[in-house]
Amino acid sequence: MDELYVICRTDEIEDAEATGFVLMRAEASGDAAPYPILITRKGNNFYGFENACPHEGERLDVNPGHFMDEEGNFLECGRHHAQFDIDTGHCFIGPCQGQRLTPIKLVVDEGDVCLTGVLLAEE
Ligand code: FES
Repeated sequence: MDELYVICRTDEIEDAEATGFVLMRAEASGDAAPYPILITRKGNNFYGFENACPHEGERLDVNPGHFMDEEGNFLECGRHHAQFDIDTGHCFIGPCQGQRLTPIKLVVDEGDVCLTGVLLAEE
């Protein structure tokens, strides 16, 4: 079974908001590389994505910590303003329309939001 990595408590992610984390992923070479992710919430459901825009691979939060559009309804890339659904990561407008954010696998375990399916570097 894949390892579970605790990322945060569920109550640290606000409903209809996104929070970013920069983890360190273990590369095949044995090196560690920064692994920025974001976690969104809709009610009691949590969704995780790699924090990399499908357009040019930028982090969505060009302004650190700023992931949402002005109305706060959608994820928005700060670079060229592509917008994404917060639960599916589907881009419905912008230069990467029709593409989607790369999902990551989350598990909620006793109030913790955990990441699985990747190998993180030892801290
Ligand atoms: S890099 Fe995100 S819309 Fe261009």
